Amino acid sequence: MADLRVTLAGVEFKNPVIPASGTYGYGREYECLYPLSRLGGISVKGTTLHERGGNIPPRIAETPCGMLNSVGLQNGGAEKFIKYELPNLAAKDTRIIANIAGSTVEECAELAAMLNGTAVDMIELNISCPNVKQGGAAFGTDCTVAGAVTKAVREASDKPLMVKLSPNVTSIVDIAKSVEAGGADAVSLINTLLGMRIDIKTRRPVLHNNVGGLSGPAVFPVAVRMVWQVANAVRIPVCGMGGVSTAEDAIEIMMAGASAVQVGAAIFRDPYAPVKIIDGINEWCDQNGVKSVSEIVGTVKPY
Ligand SMILES: Cc1cc2nc3c(=O)[nH]c(=O)nc-3n(C[C@H](O)[C@H](O)[C@H](O)COP(=O)(O)O)c2cc1C
Repeated sequence: MADLRVTLAGVEFKNPVIPASGTYGYGREYECLYPLSRLGGISVKGTTLHERGGNIPPRIAETPCGMLNSVGLQNGGAEKFIKYELPNLAAKDTRIIANIAGSTVEECAELAAMLNGTAVDMIELNISCPNVKQGGAAFGTDCTVAGAVTKAVREASDKPLMVKLSPNVTSIVDIAKSVEAGGADAVSLINTLLGMRIDIKTRRPVLHNNVGGLSGPAVFPVAVRMVWQVANAVRIPVCGMGGVSTAEDAIEIMMAGASAVQVGAAIFRDPYAPVKIIDGINEWCDQNGVKSVSEIVGTVKPY
């Protein structure tokens, strides 16, 4: 049995596998399948200051080797999360990552402050959502704005702060450096890639929102490339995700530079995916003489 413990932003996880935000709810639907204590942690559904109904359906569509979604951050709001979901999660002996989002810098900071003193182990700030005060462009597409929202949340929060980057940018490295300068303790990447499909019979987009986020195995090579570039450009740790479906994928993205791994779309195909990945990493370590999984982080040998 290899040592699967990893550390991210000063927080120790019993293993590197974390279900990704929006693909695992608050874990309730999975509790009857396996103990949530098997997981390194859970990144919960994106929480906003106020309740959100999300986008109009259809908002999920299958694509070759992936899926498109435009769920639109449907959630019950921060108060309900703290009152009803957090106590249940806190009893599960796994790390709790609160994924948060807002429409303004002030909203993000207010939400982060509400989590001070709670059982949350880490905040994951999703900067892929539109900033209504800056013409609706996502926070994460502009270095200055990405740095500013990170700084505001850092100042408001007493929790370790991981900032989740959008891949829909020209230079992910520049954005990563900006959030590092803003005070992020870690970065996670990638969020979904903006995509679109059209039903040629109706000539309607398959999603009511017209466009949506692509995830699943189709995006894995993009995720590996971005994790590798970012890990080589910043000093803070990286949490890798985007199409991770197997233990081999998890090991690959860790070799690219990720200290821990999130698993998203794969859970829709197989709800046991996270625990299969944990067992597979352990087996791979044993077979390859790796005593501690953290030894493999960033060990790719580029040409
Ligand atoms: C249905 C769905 C909902 C998602 N909701 C969120 C969310 O609320 N907050 C967030 O930061 N990312 C959200 N994501 C993005 C995932 O956490 C992850 O970054 C992305 O899907 C890439 O990983 P994957 O290919 O393993 O799914 C969502 C993804 C999907 C498929």
